[in-house]
Amino acid sequence: MEFFATAAFGLEGLVRKELQHLGIDNARGEQGGARFEADPARAFQANLWLRTADRVLLIVGEQKAVTFEELFQFVFSLPWEDYLPPNARFPVSGKCARSQLMSVRDCQAITKKAIVERLKKRYRTSWFDESGPTYPIDVALHGDVARLTIDTSGDALNKRGYRTWNGEAPIRETLAAALVLLAPRGERILYDPCCGTGTLLIEAAFIKARRAPGLKRSFACESWPLFPKDAMQRLRREAEEQFDPARIGAVAGSDIDGQAIALCKRHIQQAGLGGRITVTEKDLRQVQLDTPSPLFLLNPPYGERLSDRKACEQLYRDIRALKDRHPDSRMGVITAHTGFERCFGRRAAQKRRLYNGRLECEYLMY
Ligand SMILES: C[S@@+](CC[C@H](N)C(=O)[O-])C[C@H]1O[C@@H](n2cnc3c(N)ncnc32)[C@H](O)[C@@H]1O
Repeated sequence: MEFFATAAFGLEGLVRKELQHLGIDNARGEQGGARFEADPARAFQANLWLRTADRVLLIVGEQKAVTFEELFQFVFSLPWEDYLPPNARFPVSGKCARSQLMSVRDCQAITKKAIVERLKKRYRTSWFDESGPTYPIDVALHGDVARLTIDTSGDALNKRGYRTWNGEAPIRETLAAALVLLAPRGERILYDPCCGTGTLLIEAAFIKARRAPGLKRSFACESWPLFPKDAMQRLRREAEEQFDPARIGAVAGSDIDGQAIALCKRHIQQAGLGGRITVTEKDLRQVQLDTPSPLFLLNPPYGERLSDRKACEQLYRDIRALKDRHPDSRMGVITAHTGFERCFGRRAAQKRRLYNGRLECEYLMY
């Protein structure tokens, strides 16, 4: 079967690498994610282990369609009965970009109708009560090519289950994991001095502890007859066995906002990492670590509102002072503020363009 692991702009290559690390050698990066061929158990494993992808979609078919009739005939021609049992619930979502068919609602309705007609014929029935497992179907038109997929993930993969409270501008779990994976290795302590509700710290600890990000959540495909229950249970057990909190080492952080720190502590508990990550309420101007070779990872405020800009620029100068107080440190900072290097007073050794939601950002490494 063919699958597509979707990812935010800039993370496609990381997703491909993650898939290859799982032993899926045929993974290829392309715009919007990485494509791979695998059996259902492997696709489940991808859901369980991918840290930087948003969803794993099963590709049912792809073909050019420039009229509604072509779209209907194409969707009708696909073997939906191979995937959907007679009691399947199959909501259809859609998107259109740079295509002649631009009405998302019409594309969704036509897709639904074509699938119903196909299943009516194959299952010799005229009524589907949709009372069984959910198969979220998507019709995506891009450059006149219609891609029909079924979402094996259900909830997006960034929903790991530990983050239930949001502080100020929390970073997505998938992006936080990417920042950790892209950062230089070999630190004695990983420290986030603007840790907010703790996403970066928790993702870093998961990576160090070999904790599968999806260990404590379920996926849509787990209720599908097509996906082998025994193999999925075995993969879950193996993931449980691999989780080794003793590997985390020193991971710590602080934030000037006491409320954010309170939420951060709850998230750490909910992630099953109680006692493994230390966080304190502190202004980063006061941060002074005794441990040599720290790695500072941070997602500071970006000063999007004009009124915040000056304070934000002063904070960036203070981040430089933090770096200077720890001459053997390394640092990775993500920001949408284009003047970061100017305020920090030094060019980054490495830069990468990434998106934090809709905001174009730079990930700067020192
Ligand atoms: C964009 S948020 C970080 C969100 C965090 N990555 C998360 O996932 O929750 C920026 C954080 O920087 C903190 N901050 C702002 N100025 C600070 C300072 N001088 N010292 C420490 N933290 C500061 C804010 O309280 C806020 O929590």
